[in-house]
Amino acid sequence: MTPLLEVDNLATGYGQSKVLRGVSFSVKPGEVACIMGRNGAGKTTLLRALMGVLAKTGSVRLAGEDITHWAGHRVNAAGMVWVPQEDSVFSGLTVRNHLTIAVHGRREEEEGLEAAGALFPVLGERLEQEAQTLSGGERKMLALAQALIVRPKVVLMDEPTEGVAPVVVEQLIPAIAASTKESAVVLVEQNIDTALALGQNAYLLEQGSIAVSGTVRDLHDRGVLEQRLAL
Ligand SMILES: Nc1ncnc2c1ncn2[C@@H]1O[C@H](COP(=O)(O)OP(=O)(O)OP(=O)(O)O)[C@@H](O)[C@H]1O
Ligand SMILES: [Mg+2]
Repeated sequence: MTPLLEVDNLATGYGQSKVLRGVSFSVKPGEVACIMGRNGAGKTTLLRALMGVLAKTGSVRLAGEDITHWAGHRVNAAGMVWVPQEDSVFSGLTVRNHLTIAVHGRREEEEGLEAAGALFPVLGERLEQEAQTLSGGERKMLALAQALIVRPKVVLMDEPTEGVAPVVVEQLIPAIAASTKESAVVLVEQNIDTALALGQNAYLLEQGSIAVSGTVRDLHDRGVLEQRLAL
């Protein structure tokens, strides 16, 4: 199967500060690629570069099309969505508002709301609630729903289970797995259990490039993940 996302020799950073270089990997439909690495390794920076909000060299292809130099809004319109690491709810807007903005122009509004409720029933029950008053776990669900209900080609997820109670993680994992069957997923993850539950290949970032790659299962069994991610 042809990869939906192909990253070749990517380099990026902030002005004079070079963060990543020589990063190459590809993700096929239905595949979850885990980007792992310690704090500050450049995981979020990689997602920013893919999403088109940071300048880069090398190349990025989405469903075969070269999107390397596209602006963020265009990358997004072409089917790449991003679940940010930090909280991204807007004050004064309800859950319904957030979801309808997410599906605008991509899918029937009602259909999108139904899909969000099917993914996370608690969101369906709280459509009129101000998003800022949701619990931390519910806000993670909202962020995931916003991305997943548009039937994206590529989903970039930045530590979606970070800081979430284990009982909520147990709800997030099957929902993510079920709604990304046809997408290519790039999952930034430091939690080994979540990576094992969702991911196939893992890419470990160290000193600005991919130091080790392999299947999550194999790297885990050989103790590589534990060793390289230990704080
Ligand atoms: N806006 C910015 N301007 C300058 N440097 C930045 C900026 N954002 C991040 N950096 C630097 O880039 C490097 C990589 O940061 P990044 O946020 O990508 O790491 P990360 O792997 O996502 O870490 P974490 O696990 O803590 O989320 C760090 O050294 C960080 O200080
Ligand atoms: Mg980060």
